[in-house]
Amino acid sequence: MNFRGSHILSVKQFDRDSVEQVFQVADGMEPYAHRLRMTKVLDGAILGNMFFEPSTRTRVSFGCAFNLLGGDVRETTDVKSSSITKGESLYDTARVISGYSDVIVMRHPQPGSVAEFAKASRVPVVNGGDGPNEHPSQALLDLYTIKKELHSNSRSIDGMRIAMVGDLKHGRTVHSLSQLLLLYKNIHFTLISPTELRMPESIVSNLQAAGHEVTETEEMERGLQDNDTVYLTRIQEERFDSKLEADIYRGRFRLDQAIYTRHCQPNTVIMHPLPRDSRADANELDNDLNQHPSLAIFRQTDNGVLVRMALFALILDVADKIEDTASEVSWYTESRFEE
Ligand code: NCD
Repeated sequence: MNFRGSHILSVKQFDRDSVEQVFQVADGMEPYAHRLRMTKVLDGAILGNMFFEPSTRTRVSFGCAFNLLGGDVRETTDVKSSSITKGESLYDTARVISGYSDVIVMRHPQPGSVAEFAKASRVPVVNGGDGPNEHPSQALLDLYTIKKELHSNSRSIDGMRIAMVGDLKHGRTVHSLSQLLLLYKNIHFTLISPTELRMPESIVSNLQAAGHEVTETEEMERGLQDNDTVYLTRIQEERFDSKLEADIYRGRFRLDQAIYTRHCQPNTVIMHPLPRDSRADANELDNDLNQHPSLAIFRQTDNGVLVRMALFALILDVADKIEDTASEVSWYTESRFEE
């Protein structure tokens, strides 16, 4: 895959080599993301960060990633304050904003909207989530995290066992991650969800056609057994017709210390794209696991910055120029990143 000037709209664009290329560039970003060094490689460049759906970590981590490479960020975070409410088309918005930016990240509730926007854009566009469809940068950071976590236990992605839990019908993170895993071999997927919220049939059949084993179940406790990774998700209430309908499923599958100890392997990696729904009636991932060494959720969010820096460096073709403008940081920094 040639990243230079490319849109990143779907994990289907990637082959295994290009995933490895992203991971290798991401590894090299660590001193910059960890504030040991700084670079000005994107000095003067502008990111248009367009979020037409709620977002905290995706929006902020894309913005930080661009800042850490020395670039500036312009944000549109609210549909209400954008011209889209005046009836402007995605085409016009894309023509306009791409004149102001060097690269654009966009999130929008409509599946396919980011691809439509990208067609009209004069600069590369990264999909920050298009409704329930895809979230490619999240899948890349999830896989990067899985690779690192399994590596520290001398295991690998090929042949791993992963359980995905929760709203697999609407969750774009699990849609993208599953499809990215099509590039790997012999994975055992246990898909734990209410029947009504099962993983789309097309994704399940693609996994099976690629030689992966898929077990679908509504029984959380049995499904949790023997996995290298358990990936929990939130009930995506914004995708239901009403909150009442989402309430039916909320709290159905929960992981806490007692369930983990009883049913998981001692070192099963615990992941969640966040936000976790910590309200009492949901609580899919309990706070009593916060100190557990296998809880990878905050390593996942830290890794998001590395992966997003790598994507910008590759798209804007500066991956081999980072060092040219690098220096030590001059301010006091706490060491706060786990190895
Ligand atoms: C996810 C999303 O927006 O799809 N969050 C994220 O980007 N990290 C998951 C979610 O909202 O539940």
